Amino acid sequence: MRVGKPSQTAVAAATHRAAHQVLEQGRIFADPLALRILGEDAETVARNAEEKPSGRRMRIFIAVRTRLAEDSLASAVERGVRQVVVLGAGLDTYAYRSPLRDRLRIFEVDHPATQAWKRQRLEDAAIPIPSSLSFAPVDFEHQTLAEGLAAAGFDPAQQTFFTWLGVVPYLTEEAVWSTLGFIASLPNGAHVVFDYSNPPASFSAEMCTRHERRSAHVAELGEAWLSYFEADNLRAKLMALGFSEIEDLGPPQIAARYFPHLMITLPDKGGHILRATTICSTAI
Ligand SMILES: C[S@@+](CC[C@H](N)C(=O)[O-])C[C@H]1O[C@@H](n2cnc3c(N)ncnc32)[C@H](O)[C@@H]1O
Repeated sequence: MRVGKPSQTAVAAATHRAAHQVLEQGRIFADPLALRILGEDAETVARNAEEKPSGRRMRIFIAVRTRLAEDSLASAVERGVRQVVVLGAGLDTYAYRSPLRDRLRIFEVDHPATQAWKRQRLEDAAIPIPSSLSFAPVDFEHQTLAEGLAAAGFDPAQQTFFTWLGVVPYLTEEAVWSTLGFIASLPNGAHVVFDYSNPPASFSAEMCTRHERRSAHVAELGEAWLSYFEADNLRAKLMALGFSEIEDLGPPQIAARYFPHLMITLPDKGGHILRATTICSTAI
């Protein structure tokens, strides 16, 4: 992140969500505020996305990860969860549009500069801030999540659902494990959904080229990718922290769940979306 500047990759992710509403009619993930929070009109977003067809893969991945996170969150709410933390929120709009928001206490955690910019975007777009939402400015590399959340009124005794989308790759491993350690330490249990990438050394030549291009681009924006994980190693470490149920979807599992009609064969390696909980299902 550039000092004092909001995240440029947060703009990019929000632009992909907005483009998904226009180009795919929000078929995977519907977000009625996606264009409004971005402050762009549908025609501009669609034109820009169509000029860069290589962005389609990332657009679909972002739509799927958000859909999976919100579906999992809805199930957790049905089972009684009432506290939600959106980590590295960027221009995420869950807190402003979810039909469940009146039943929840929601915390948005983000880098201070990104959060200040988002609050200005919300004001400019006349999107009301619900009373259920609190903002917690936290730099994961320099502050603890525990302190940032405590200052915002978070109740550590409540079972909590964390979404952490599009953030892990930008953090050092130390910051990733410190955050996961905090989540796992909550005494009455927690759930988390996050996405990550396998190390590029395991990619095919074509994927490597794509990865190098994107990696150079985000580094130029001052938001370099720093962390990659092997699925088996990640699972073992999550279990050691106390996560008991782990569902990790790699490219083939994502395709089978969300695009079964395409019947495509994808490599195991690439972007993953992972859901984990410290609560045994028998105890929920
Ligand atoms: C690619 S954006 C994803 C935003 C959002 N979750 C989404 O899916 O649209 C990355 C987010 O990570 C946040 N981030 C990156 N480094 C951070 C840090 N050290 N501390 C806190 N947030 C950070 C950025 O501010 C930004 O909101």
